[in-house]
Amino acid sequence: VAALPLLLHQYIVNQPHHPGVVSPDQQRHACAPQPGTSGAAARAPSTGKPSFTNAFDIRSVGCSGDPTMFEAFWRETGDAAELVIPGWQTMSYFSDVGNVCWFMEPLFDQQVRRLHRTVGNAAVDGYHVLVGTGSTQLFMAALYALSPADADQPTSVVSTAPYYSSYPAVTDFLRSGLFRWAGDANSFVGDSYIELVCSPNNPDGAIRDAVLSSGAGKAVHDLAYYWPQYTPITRRADHDIMLFTVSKSTGHAGTRIGWALVKDREVARRMTKFVELNTIGVSKDSQLRAAKVLGAVSDGYDVGGGGASRHRLFDFGRRKMVERWRMLREAAAASGAFSLPAETSGQCNFANETAANNPAFAWLRCDREDVEDCAGFLRGHKILTRSGNQFGADPRYVRVSMLDRDDAYDIFISRLASLK
Ligand SMILES: Cc1ncc(COP(=O)(O)O)c(C=O)c1O
Repeated sequence: VAALPLLLHQYIVNQPHHPGVVSPDQQRHACAPQPGTSGAAARAPSTGKPSFTNAFDIRSVGCSGDPTMFEAFWRETGDAAELVIPGWQTMSYFSDVGNVCWFMEPLFDQQVRRLHRTVGNAAVDGYHVLVGTGSTQLFMAALYALSPADADQPTSVVSTAPYYSSYPAVTDFLRSGLFRWAGDANSFVGDSYIELVCSPNNPDGAIRDAVLSSGAGKAVHDLAYYWPQYTPITRRADHDIMLFTVSKSTGHAGTRIGWALVKDREVARRMTKFVELNTIGVSKDSQLRAAKVLGAVSDGYDVGGGGASRHRLFDFGRRKMVERWRMLREAAAASGAFSLPAETSGQCNFANETAANNPAFAWLRCDREDVEDCAGFLRGHKILTRSGNQFGADPRYVRVSMLDRDDAYDIFISRLASLK
């Protein structure tokens, strides 16, 4: 009897199909997070990719945009972002039946508005807040809401290249009759379109404005990275549809919560309809967690309320990003084989100082004459990246995540610096 737990544990970890077991082959090709590696990990909440234990670790680094860098911050905040949900709570489908977005928790709405007022990155007065399962769901909801149901042709969806690789993939994966991916906004000809404007841009960090301006055209502004850790907050954005997500603002990608700020009530109603038909609302448990987390971020800066704490997310994030970009620029210079976009800066109204743009991704170019496929070249050196051609750009470019944990980031830097 005493040996039973041990035998059971060995049985579990030796099962070839058990999700806790990662073969060396899987590890080598892993781009997505790996499951835990022990019976204990299978019982505890998952933590994403296993940590790197030393510089000689043979696993590849890089690739996904999993924002695990922020874990270190949230470990330090004690119970500020902790939440207990009793078994009887959050059981109903409904949250706020008087609201356009009837499945949105009022506390979530309140904390979204509070954080935008604290940071000054987006207008909230006169806007409807909508909640989605990640901003990815709200992106799809916006395409649905903005495409006329009675048009002869699917509405063209465009974005300036290099564009976020999910835009074409998500737009076309169900082959909708309402909308269709039409590529680079700069080469689009026509009057009727939906332009996706991502600023700061994924993958290259550029600050973007819409490039098309016809009366019948519509724009969706994806402001996932318009937060002080990545870029100076130079103005209060006030576009018709703005998308945000906790994935990139606080690092809580696994909570799967995004929000949209929408000016027009009818567009807000149609976007809500999409979420209703797609998933009958959005997890209330996740909304409450997101509200708690966003509230903890605002509390860190709430000087007037006497609640200002030493746990300030954007200060942590900015320090980290500045340091990581310094390391990356030094590594690229030491290698001599790569170039990076030039650093830009601006006056940050939130920090009240001049701040550099420190994008969440590095848009790295292989300058070696003999390398045409930069992603393939780096893969050969155990650095996983996403090729430029997935972003509508040259495969000499790759996108590298800047938001991994310290251990993985440090190994990435040392491997890159050693490449000639
Ligand atoms: C520009 C941009 N928008 C949206 C998303 C997805 O956000 P979410 O995790 O909220 O679906 C990402 C994730 O990488 C992104 O880079």
